[in-house]
Amino acid sequence: MSSKHMKIVAGIGFCAIFALSLLPSAEAQPGQTRKSPKKSNVFKPAQELEQMMAGQKYLFGGIKAGILDETWDDAVIKAWILSEMANANQFQNAHADYKKLAGQMSEQCADLAKTLKKHDAKESMEKFSAIGKTCGSCHDQFGKKH
Ligand code: HEC
Repeated sequence: MSSKHMKIVAGIGFCAIFALSLLPSAEAQPGQTRKSPKKSNVFKPAQELEQMMAGQKYLFGGIKAGILDETWDDAVIKAWILSEMANANQFQNAHADYKKLAGQMSEQCADLAKTLKKHDAKESMEKFSAIGKTCGSCHDQFGKKH
C-alpha cells in the first residue's frame, strides 16, 4: 500500500470513530437506570401513607401550638412543609376525589402560611380549623375511622 493510500485509510478510520462518538451514548445517565429510563419522570412520594400521616399530624399540632404560643416563624415553616406534604399526598391514591382533597389541603396550608406571616391569631385559627375539616373529609371517605 502506498503512503497516499495509507493516509486515505487512516482518514476514513478517523472519520468513522468521530461519527461513532456523536451517536447517543447507550450508557445510563446519572439518576436514571437503563432498564426504566422514564422512571425519574414519575413522581412517587418518599414515604408510605401511614408515615406521611404521622408527619401531617405532627406538623398540624405544631402549627396549632405556634398560633397559641405566637411562635409565628416556626408556624409559617410548618405550614409550608405541610402544604408540600399534602401536595405529595395527591400521589398516594389514584382516585380523583382523593387527589382533589389533598390538593385542597395543600392550597389551604399555603394560604394559612401567608396569614401566619401577618401574626393574626384569630384569622390563623379560623384557617387552621378549616384545614382540620379537610382532614376529616378525606378520612371519612378514604379510611381512618375516628
Ligand atoms: C386526601 C386524603 C387525606 C387527607 C387530606 C388527610 N389524610 Fe390523614 N389519612 C388518610 C388516609 C387514607 C388514612 C388511613 C391510612 C390507613 O390507616 O391505612 C389517614 C390516616 C391518618 C392518620 C392515622 C395514621 C395511621 O396510623 O394509620 C393520622 C394521624 C392522620 N391521617 C392525620 C391527618 C391530618 C392531621 C390531616 C390534616 C392536616 C390529614 N390526615 C389529612 C388520608 C388523608
